[in-house]
Amino acid sequence: MTRNLLILGGTTEATALGGAVAKAGLRGTVSFAGRVERPKRQPLPQRIGGFGGVEGLRDYLVSHQITHVVDATHPFAAQMSRNAKTACAKAGIPLIALTRAPWGAQTGDSWTHAPDIAGAVAALDRPAARIMLAVGRMHLNDFAPNPQHFYLLRLVDPPQSPPPFPDHHVLVSRGPFTAADDRALMEAYGIDLIVSKNAGGTGAYAKIEAARELGLPVIMIDRPAIPDRAEAYSVDEVMAWLGHGADLGV
Ligand SMILES: NC(=O)c1ccc[n+]([C@@H]2O[C@H](COP(=O)([O-])OP(=O)(O)OC[C@H]3O[C@@H](n4cnc5c(N)ncnc54)[C@H](OP(=O)(O)O)[C@@H]3O)[C@@H](O)[C@H]2O)c1
Repeated sequence: MTRNLLILGGTTEATALGGAVAKAGLRGTVSFAGRVERPKRQPLPQRIGGFGGVEGLRDYLVSHQITHVVDATHPFAAQMSRNAKTACAKAGIPLIALTRAPWGAQTGDSWTHAPDIAGAVAALDRPAARIMLAVGRMHLNDFAPNPQHFYLLRLVDPPQSPPPFPDHHVLVSRGPFTAADDRALMEAYGIDLIVSKNAGGTGAYAKIEAARELGLPVIMIDRPAIPDRAEAYSVDEVMAWLGHGADLGV
C-alpha cells in the first residue's frame, strides 16, 4: 500500500521531517494545533486544529487512510502524545515519535528542578526578582500568584491577553537564538533567574548556555510523563522506519 503519513507537528523537527518526506515523494500531511498565528510554511499539505480527542483522531486516521503516524510534537504536548498512542493502537496504525533527549545539567549549571508548571509557580513564591520566563504564552496566567517579579517574556506571538503581572516586557521572536545574544539580553534586563521547560534540542538551548556563562540559577521544569512508544531522535531514523515500518510497529 502507498504510504500516507500523518505528522503531528508544531516543532522544528516536524518541519524538517516534512521536507524529507516531500523530497522522498511520499504522501503526508502535517497537523498543527493552531496555537501559533503564523505557522512556518510546510513542504507538505497541512491541517490545523484538534481532532476531537482519541475517537476524533481514530476517525481521522481511518477516514483519511493514514498508514503511518509520526508524533513530532513538543515534549510538553503530552495530551496529544497520549491520544496519538491510544488512537493508533485502536486503529492498528504504526506510530513513532520524533523527539529530543532532555537537557542534562552540566558543570557550571545551577538548576532547581520543578516537576511541572505548578511547581515552578510555587518556586517563585519568594521576594521580587528579575525573571526570564520561557514557558510559552499558554502558561502565562499560571504565574498570576507571583506578581511581585519583573518578567521578561520571549514569545512566538504576542500574548492573547495582558499578562497577569504588571511588571513585564514582551519580546516577540521565533529564534533561533545564540548564547551570546541571550547573554547580552539577560545583562540588558538585569535578569537574575531563568524559568525554562526542559525542551531538549538546540533551538531553545541558548538561554541555558547563557545562564551558565553568567552563573545564573535556572528553574528547570521537568517533562510530563508520556507512555512508552517507539522513539526516533533524527529525521533519518524516521525515514528508515518508514522504509522498514514493520520492525518498530505500533
Ligand atoms: N507545550 C509546549 O510547550 C509546546 C511548545 C512548542 C510547540 N508546541 C506545539 O504546540 C502544539 C500544542 O501543544 P499543547 O501543549 O497544547 O499540546 P497538548 O496539551 O498535548 O494538546 C492539547 C490538545 O490540542 C490538540 N493538539 C495538540 N497538538 C496538535 C497537533 N499537532 N495537531 C492537532 N491537534 C493538536 C489536541 O486536541 P484534540 O484532543 O481535540 O485532538 C490535543 O488534545 C503541539 O503541536 C506542540 O508540538 C507545544
